[in-house]
Amino acid sequence: MQLFRMLSVLSLAAVGLACGHPHAHDEHEVVTRDSIKIAPGPSDTQIQFAPLPSIADSVTIDPALGYFAGDLGGGVHWVTDGSYSNMFLVSTHGVIVVDAPPTIGHKLLYAIGNTTRLPVTHLVYSHFHSDHIGGASLFNASHPTIIAHAETFNLLASLSPRDPLRPLPHVTFEDKYTVGVGNQTLELSYHGPNHTPGNLFMYAPVQRIALLIDVVFPGWVPFTELGLANFVPGFTAAHDVLLTFDFDVFVAGHLGRLGTKQDVLLHKKYMEDLQASCVSAINGGFNVTAAIGPTVAANQGNAWAEFKAYLRIAAQTCADNTTSRWLGVLGAADVFGFENAYRMIEAVRVEYDVLGPFGLS
Ligand SMILES: *[C@@H]1O[C@H](CO)[C@@H](O)[C@H](O)[C@H]1NC(C)=O
Ligand SMILES: *[C@@H]1O[C@H](CO)[C@@H](O)[C@H](O)[C@H]1NC(C)=O
Ligand SMILES: *[C@@H]1O[C@H](CO)[C@@H](O)[C@H](O)[C@H]1NC(C)=O
Ligand SMILES: *[C@@H]1O[C@H](CO)[C@@H](O)[C@H](O)[C@H]1NC(C)=O
Ligand SMILES: *[C@@H]1O[C@H](CO)[C@@H](O)[C@H](O)[C@H]1NC(C)=O
Ligand SMILES: [Zn+2]
Repeated sequence: MQLFRMLSVLSLAAVGLACGHPHAHDEHEVVTRDSIKIAPGPSDTQIQFAPLPSIADSVTIDPALGYFAGDLGGGVHWVTDGSYSNMFLVSTHGVIVVDAPPTIGHKLLYAIGNTTRLPVTHLVYSHFHSDHIGGASLFNASHPTIIAHAETFNLLASLSPRDPLRPLPHVTFEDKYTVGVGNQTLELSYHGPNHTPGNLFMYAPVQRIALLIDVVFPGWVPFTELGLANFVPGFTAAHDVLLTFDFDVFVAGHLGRLGTKQDVLLHKKYMEDLQASCVSAINGGFNVTAAIGPTVAANQGNAWAEFKAYLRIAAQTCADNTTSRWLGVLGAADVFGFENAYRMIEAVRVEYDVLGPFGLS
């Protein structure tokens, strides 16, 4: 309610401004899509960003192969193309594959084929997103048992049309499931929605390896909009859940390197800082009237235009405050600084209930 009261006060002020110009709309240029991007920030057209710090370094990928396969010991291997990563476990009875990123695609079959002659008997989906499991049908010929969380099944089954590249799981569960094949054990657990509903934690206790996809981006800030997080409180809490596992390395699903507990702690600090900065931005971090006034004046009765201005300025204020502290600490803090702040502003508002001027009055 207060939102509309505040906006209508601004609208009235704008009417006052416009009343001397009855044909004001004739004089206006067509409103272009970025006309209310008030503060200059990492814009859609920016090309040159800050150099990456060494913490963001990738393993060396042979350009002739286009992938790197690393031996994590005890029959566990990870594969990366520099942008995506996944894992497979060679057991005495067959291979358990976790995810099949389509960018790695056939190269995953080569990585496995150069490691063992055993067939792929099990395929585990971390979550339903196509960029991590869209290569699943490459294993169709060996008819693996596909295992995933029940939410992943539901989401895939609800797609219309269904995706032939992501066959439905054969085995689903709610809380915990242990994949025991031959000499290998992989513990799967679900701790609520984070990046997506159904996104799993995986743990290989013998090799002390954890896997969590699209939450922690080791050495880097998150991918745009907090890795497209579905539920930011769960996304943030997932850092703490991950730290409860007794692991030495973890597989993150993105970029060309593995993670450690130190990486998880640093990423968690970034999330905490971003959240605190966005709370500050909403709670008096900028002059709302001054910031959105020109947009209100130029777009009479257009509540979306006014809200867009508010959200963008709040996000830019939050990003400006956060990014300087993280440049050189995590990779690409300036690249998705605005987009990550934008997602956090929305989370702080509607998921955490820090509504600033739009809160309960
Ligand atoms: C399981 O067996 C595979 C295949 O023989 C071997 O490579 C791997 O090291 C073994 N892992 C464990 C944990 O015993
Ligand atoms: C081993 O890797 C090479 C290069 O990626 C590939 O051409 C070959 O087919 C792979 N071998 C097997 C058995 O998958
Ligand atoms: C893979 O197999 C599934 C059945 O398990 C089928 O529905 C799907 O169409 C197949 N996809 C491709 C690309 O062959
Ligand atoms: C920046 O964010 C911090 C929290 O991370 C907050 O304490 C501080 O007030 C903010 N500064 C500005 C100028 O908003
Ligand atoms: C906010 O901006 C408006 C319009 O420019 C101005 O009248 C007002 O005094 C400002 N408020 C504060 C607290 O600076
Ligand atoms: Zn995803």
